[in-house]
Amino acid sequence: MSSFKALVATKGEIGPNLAFTDFAEADLMEGDVTVRVTHSTVNYKDGLAITGKAPVIRRWPMIPGIDFSGRVETSGHPDFKPGDLVILDGWGTGETHLGAYAQKSRVNGDWLVPLPAGMTPADAMAIGTAGYTAMLCVLALEKHGLKPADGPVVVTGAAGGVGSVAIALLAKAGWHVIASTGRAEEADYLKGLGAAEIIDRNELSNPGKPLAKERWIAGVDAVGSHTLANLLAMTRYGGAVAACGLAQGMDLPASVAPFILRGVSLLGVDSVMCPKPRRLEAWARLASDLDRDKLAAMTSTIPLESVIETGKAIVEGKVRGRVVVEVG
Ligand SMILES: NC(=O)c1ccc[n+]([C@@H]2O[C@H](COP(=O)([O-])OP(=O)(O)OC[C@H]3O[C@@H](n4cnc5c(N)ncnc54)[C@H](OP(=O)(O)O)[C@@H]3O)[C@@H](O)[C@H]2O)c1
Repeated sequence: MSSFKALVATKGEIGPNLAFTDFAEADLMEGDVTVRVTHSTVNYKDGLAITGKAPVIRRWPMIPGIDFSGRVETSGHPDFKPGDLVILDGWGTGETHLGAYAQKSRVNGDWLVPLPAGMTPADAMAIGTAGYTAMLCVLALEKHGLKPADGPVVVTGAAGGVGSVAIALLAKAGWHVIASTGRAEEADYLKGLGAAEIIDRNELSNPGKPLAKERWIAGVDAVGSHTLANLLAMTRYGGAVAACGLAQGMDLPASVAPFILRGVSLLGVDSVMCPKPRRLEAWARLASDLDRDKLAAMTSTIPLESVIETGKAIVEGKVRGRVVVEVG
């Protein structure tokens, strides 16, 4: 394959110009491992890149797509050999390094995680960066010392990718999960994943008080802005919120009151530059803890050609759960 199918973004006046083209293998960027990409996914960040709603792409031309799974074709890296199945999340892929919406990718082998035993490449992208980030949030709460016996956990952006995987993981671990959603019609879906209670996201999305009635001991927040501020204000003494997202906004109009009067902690979660040992821990826990039937229930599959329309839909909050992209 001296050339292969790829979605290429070039700089446009308003947002990127996108076209499926034959991309020459010789034009791939530097790296010691070349991977035949079999699957990718559409995360919120992919939607931001495709629509140009945020400056995710910082090198032109770019192949978008922040994560993939696939099979190693050639390797100069000691940890990988041809035929190995691998996962890549982040490290600037689809931002500054040619990304996942292509049949091939050449990357630094240090960025790759071996596909865990018992997981298929399609499973890995059903989880994707959104699901791996949900796992990082759960790990952050656990490392803070929080346990299901301490009280309920709230998950915001519940019907989205991070939210859906977080609910499934937390419910499996025995937590009483309160799911916050703007899609009341998804109540049965969220209960199927393990949510014990559903609340309307409007309860959290408007400006609130510095401290409010204590409702939960822990939180996973994919939304930011007033929602995160209210989550903190409603967290019980000694609790913590793991924050990973900005679906409502990047701002945080909060006060220090929950921190200094209730000992509440805000735990920041980043998936892109997350060190390798934590990634390996997260993927091992996903392999052992995430119920495959629940993963199937939250996942739909699209061909590579549909990533543009799905990218637009995800930033409009119209995608439920997770989307696997068959790269083919
Ligand atoms: N820190 C990291 O490394 C990292 C990694 C992955 C993702 N993220 C971030 O996490 C967030 C979720 O990613 P995702 O891939 O799960 O996206 P997603 O599938 O689109 O989920 C986001 C969910 O947020 C809710 N939402 C959307 N607009 C909202 C608004 N204006 N106000 C309140 N809630 C709103 C919706 O849930 P309901 O319909 O249920 O209300 C939506 O489904 C994104 O901001 C993404 O950038 C960060």
